[in-house]
Amino acid sequence: KRLIFIGPPGSGKGTQSPIVKDEFCLCHLSTGDMLRAAVASKTPLGLKAKEAMDKGALVTDELVVGIIDEAMNKPKCQKGFILDGFPRTVAQAEKLDEMLKKRGTGIDKVLNFAIDDSVLEERITGRWIHPSSGRSYHTKFAPPKTPGVDDITGEPLIQRKDDNAEVLRSRLAAFHTQTEPVIDYYAKKAVLTNIHAEKAPQEVTSEVQKALS
Ligand code: AP5
Ligand code: ZN
Repeated sequence: KRLIFIGPPGSGKGTQSPIVKDEFCLCHLSTGDMLRAAVASKTPLGLKAKEAMDKGALVTDELVVGIIDEAMNKPKCQKGFILDGFPRTVAQAEKLDEMLKKRGTGIDKVLNFAIDDSVLEERITGRWIHPSSGRSYHTKFAPPKTPGVDDITGEPLIQRKDDNAEVLRSRLAAFHTQTEPVIDYYAKKAVLTNIHAEKAPQEVTSEVQKALS
């Protein structure tokens, strides 16, 4: 399966991706996770991306298209993938079509994690992540067994630099102006399914599984 998960910050893309990935043996390609790893290790790519990410703006199309093109060549991604957080502009969606055409494939399904903006601040400000695995927790909705510690590795959890109310407002603005047109792009291609992303995590998982079965 070749899937795209699209939705605003905090809509649950990164929470549902690992579940679906294990179920269908796909690779999980999160441009946000890949960019954060590049920023943390101060690669040339990370240095270019940092400023935009810190203020909640999108990085350039060129940067993320390059990352995705490279990642899709990995052997483990040949069976299929979940694109989480990409494409986020119509230009990225068009580039993706070209990349897939070159490989003789296409997108099977696009899941739109639809949710009202008003619930996202609580989700975002309560999130804690385990950087090396990408696992995320929430102080109220998905607390770790021990506060501040990853359940599996026992390593410390951190908060993302862009997870505060002020930067969230910029991320939401970017979503509404630049990413919403991508939803229309896929609706026209008749590959789009809407997910009720405001429901409880397990209910969202069932909806996602139903959409993919
Ligand atoms: P990215 O990392 O993609 O951030 P985002 O799109 O803002 O999305 P989030 O990761 O915040 O949300 P999510 O849907 O994954 O939420 P999660 O499941 O963790 O991008 C970061 C930055 O990188 C961008 O701002 C940009 O600068 C750059 N970038 C990335 N891709 C780019 C691209 N293609 N082009 C240009 N720039 C790009 O859930 C959030 C919280 O809620 C968690 O704590 C979770 O436990 C909780 N939660 C999840 N589901 C539920 C539920 N059903 N009920 C209650 N709580 C829930
Ligand atoms: Zn995410």
